[in-house]
Amino acid sequence: MDNVKQKRRPFNGYYRSVVASEDPELTHTGPGTPAGEYFRRFWQPIAMTEQVGDLPLAVEVLGEELVLFRDLGGQLGLLHKYCSHRRASLEYGIISEKGIRCCYHGWLYDVDGTILEVPGEPENSPIPKRICHGAYPVHEYKGLVFAWMGPPDEQPEFPVFDTMAQANNEMVPYLIDYPCNWLQVAENPMDPFHSVFLHTRVTRAHFNPAWGAMPVVEWHNMDGGSGIYLTNTRRWNDYLWVRTAEVFLPAIAQPPDIYQNVETEKFFPRVGITKWTVPVNDTSCRIVAWRHFNDTLDLDHKGDRSQVGFGKVDFVGQTGTERSYEEGQRSPGDYEAQVSQGKITVHADEMLGRTDVGVASYRQLLRDAIRATASGAVPRTLAVNADGVIPTMAGDVIVAVPAADDDIALQRDIGRLVGEIVRDTLPLGWNERSTEIERRVRQWVAGRE
Ligand code: FES
Ligand SMILES: [Fe+2]
Repeated sequence: MDNVKQKRRPFNGYYRSVVASEDPELTHTGPGTPAGEYFRRFWQPIAMTEQVGDLPLAVEVLGEELVLFRDLGGQLGLLHKYCSHRRASLEYGIISEKGIRCCYHGWLYDVDGTILEVPGEPENSPIPKRICHGAYPVHEYKGLVFAWMGPPDEQPEFPVFDTMAQANNEMVPYLIDYPCNWLQVAENPMDPFHSVFLHTRVTRAHFNPAWGAMPVVEWHNMDGGSGIYLTNTRRWNDYLWVRTAEVFLPAIAQPPDIYQNVETEKFFPRVGITKWTVPVNDTSCRIVAWRHFNDTLDLDHKGDRSQVGFGKVDFVGQTGTERSYEEGQRSPGDYEAQVSQGKITVHADEMLGRTDVGVASYRQLLRDAIRATASGAVPRTLAVNADGVIPTMAGDVIVAVPAADDDIALQRDIGRLVGEIVRDTLPLGWNERSTEIERRVRQWVAGRE
């Protein structure tokens, strides 16, 4: 019997024990790798402001070892970790009025990498003119520190999404480390079916029982290939619940309200989370994010700001530290599912099905973008809306609609409709947009009566 046939038979462990290797084009992000070059075309959040105290902070990002610090003049600096002289680590540097001073022989670096002093060298030493230390621009925004690690001449403006500029909205930053490759964390939001199983049916309801209803899901590429959005439509009692979620390349995701209740009509309350998955190196990554709190979200008050911060977030199964191994086994969450896929999950050993269309599409879009960058393309700037910020797609629509004989077709129709309306209304300002979404959804419901 050939090996392929052997793999199909029961008790075939012997024939399946050789594991294929990972897909380096998508998963490796160190300097000079194709995906690493692609990631370096986007601002990346690298730390929380609260981590930057009176001592330097060693951080690893995209396989580069760096040191982040705030000098006594208040400037943030992000420098290559190893001193340009003889490579002592600047995590032991002494923070100065201007820049940071290496502990070993006192070389002083400004936040842009300029060598300000080489005190042991002759006064007219040529060294400060010969090199600059490795440094990256940073941007501090609402409790997070972002870095531009790409070519200096290509540095774009820091992108502000509409969800980052809402009135009456509190954004609480958080950061969680994952000891696995970035892609298995970043692709999770393209798989809404895991909410049915992992988060609801398999052990218990992590959020609310409505997540256990099997959804009708459709995925769409955003204009210009900047990401993917999906509509995820369920019936729950008298309501149809259309949830639109999105991922912007390379790895920014916005899930709507995580504690959504499906007991009243709602027209486009927006996101519970804005999150980046940032590769630390090829076998670890971190989520750097904000939880959003405002009056349109979490009407049952299940969220808890005090549980959002460094290494924690206010829903179950998101970290490797909040619970014991046994608790994780008894009621696994996203952390257990994703980290347990291995250090770098092996796509060649997967068996994808109909529920994985979004994951497969995301990987394809990434691969195309990585290859385009390798050929010299520059990621396009995202358009702004009437408010001057980048509009996004994610949010919930919940509307009372009586069950139809073919309710699956009904769910598909309203999911498509909401997807179209949310896309059509991208150019509008914040308030007009939700008004228009409600108007058009109600018009469609009325047309059915
Ligand atoms: S190793 Fe840093 S100054 Fe010598
Ligand atoms: Fe999840």
